[in-house]
Amino acid sequence: MRLMRTHTCGALGEGDVGKTAVLNGWVANYRDHGGVTFIDLYDRWGMTQVVFDPEHSGAMHRAAHGIRSQYVIAVKGEVRMRPEGMENPSLPTGMIDLYVADYELLNVSKTPPFDVQHAGSIHEETRLKYRYLDLRSPRLQEAMKMRSSAMHVIRNVLWQRDFLEIETPILGRSTPEGARDYLVPSRVHPGKFFALPQSPQLYKQSLMVSGMERYFQIARCFRDEDLRADRQPEFTQLDMELSFVSREEVMEVTERVLAELFQTLKDVEVALPFPRITYRETMLKYGSDAPDLRFALEIQELSDLFTKTSFGVFKTALRSGGVVRGINLKGFSSVLSRKDLDDLTPFVKSFRGKGVAWIRMTEQGPQSPIIKFFSEEEADLLYERFKAEEGDVLIFAADSEKIVCQCLGALRVHLAGKLGLIDPSQFAFTWVTEFPLFGRDDQNRPAPMHHPFTAPVEEDVERLEEDPFSISSDAYDIVLNGSEIGGGSIRIHDERTQQRVFSLLGIDEEQARDKFGFLLEALAYGAPPHGGIALGLDRIMMILLGTSSIRDVIAFPKTQRASCLMTGAPNMVDQQQLDELYIESFPLDEDD
Ligand code: AMO
Ligand code: AMP
Repeated sequence: MRLMRTHTCGALGEGDVGKTAVLNGWVANYRDHGGVTFIDLYDRWGMTQVVFDPEHSGAMHRAAHGIRSQYVIAVKGEVRMRPEGMENPSLPTGMIDLYVADYELLNVSKTPPFDVQHAGSIHEETRLKYRYLDLRSPRLQEAMKMRSSAMHVIRNVLWQRDFLEIETPILGRSTPEGARDYLVPSRVHPGKFFALPQSPQLYKQSLMVSGMERYFQIARCFRDEDLRADRQPEFTQLDMELSFVSREEVMEVTERVLAELFQTLKDVEVALPFPRITYRETMLKYGSDAPDLRFALEIQELSDLFTKTSFGVFKTALRSGGVVRGINLKGFSSVLSRKDLDDLTPFVKSFRGKGVAWIRMTEQGPQSPIIKFFSEEEADLLYERFKAEEGDVLIFAADSEKIVCQCLGALRVHLAGKLGLIDPSQFAFTWVTEFPLFGRDDQNRPAPMHHPFTAPVEEDVERLEEDPFSISSDAYDIVLNGSEIGGGSIRIHDERTQQRVFSLLGIDEEQARDKFGFLLEALAYGAPPHGGIALGLDRIMMILLGTSSIRDVIAFPKTQRASCLMTGAPNMVDQQQLDELYIESFPLDEDD
């Protein structure tokens, strides 16, 4: 290479006029105007217009004829002011041109399968196959830069607070985070497998027993689960664990990291401390453990008003232990048509709901297909509860508590979007606390709400066996704009309590020894009280970048079907490789 760059494509400006500069980069596009060739040359730092003018250099102008989009070139020339009226104020280099006096072709390019600079509308499969090209787009360049800055901010904040960054194994033992494991067969130990970590949970707790006190890691986690818009089979956590702390300290460090990220990367000052809401309250008011607090639309409990109702739908739900709850869509009567309201029923069906009832408060009084089923007293109490006024729309769901939460929780978010109640520039953080320690599995037995190492709150420990479902855990989730961006807890740090929780979970002593023996044993050697949290870094980046797909914040993401279209992973391997691993494989047709 002859022409080594003196400047990047984003550097030259008015102050450089008259200088000679060399730029290296890719050709975004070329245009011929009245015999003069203009090329937009770009690199990671920006874009500069370079001019091949026959009057300036005939040889160069002839050379320019062969240049195509995405060719890699080096140009040397004089920086000149653009002629009046030709400036582009939206581009940092938009006041100048580089007039080419020397040129070197560094590499050619096949015609790209899509316009790299404007690939937004191209089918995602094509973009994922040519991910190395899509990553040249301004959108993904921006995402990668911001993600890199985020790592830097995180390391800075935690370094200042005396954290140690420690790497933990990728080839490990299965950890119980609730998803299926990715397994790796061992050649040396026939028939045995490593599991890729679903999170470094067991390692980080062990590090507390080791006296590391404050650990963090930007940790890759692997979970073989059904993918959604905000889930990948391999994703990144900011993982932390601290000794001799209460939940307050863990929350404070987490808030500091998040505040610093938003300040540095978005210039947004977030108010600290973040608000807190209990699990019970958020389920009641927002129907979700990850509430979006950018808008109100609170859910109201109404069951107590309908204990004597003759309306079949409500009566059936309440008789079988369910609830009736609703939302007042204040002032939206004129916005929502009858069809809009009827369309809510098919919407809730995908959340296992049976329907949505509604009342529209009009000038002529309440209008509704169900109002005739209410007594006057019921109706009055209902309006009072909702503080209903003319112009409001009241919507209701009756079912088991779980289904009502799911339906109204989803409707809340759906309607807020439809009614334009979400301000995209707002960042609403909240902690969710006081989770129950146990949920129920499909046979109504206790199952961990987080993971089995989560500590019960101190006051409840006594009652563990007596009434397991009433026990609160010392766990906390952090939610931003309706997305769960992290979760953690104070851990059980004595062997005895850990055994009690295992046994409530139906894990007997032998199974516990087999699965988590090393942790139980470690707890017996002077484990300090400890707790921590893991933040979903990809989800945080999605919100910082304002994108709705997790694939936009990961350099080489997997598809919804957990494959990589660029490399073709996962792929078949040689029989010999399988033989060495003592693996017999019966591949099915992909479509089976
Ligand atoms: P948890 O399982 O809640 O906790 O995970 C922590 C955070 O990681 C993010 N996350 C994901 N992001 C992308 N794709 C996925 N498949 C995915 N799964 C989870 C979420 C989530 O809040 N060991 C515990 C933490 C602890 O107790 O300290 C854990 O992993 O944002
Ligand atoms: P139906 O008696 O099925 O005709 O329903 C009467 C009204 O109640 C209709 O507007 C339904 O959409 C609504 N509805 C049906 N099931 C439920 C439910 N589980 N919760 C609230 N409304 C319902």
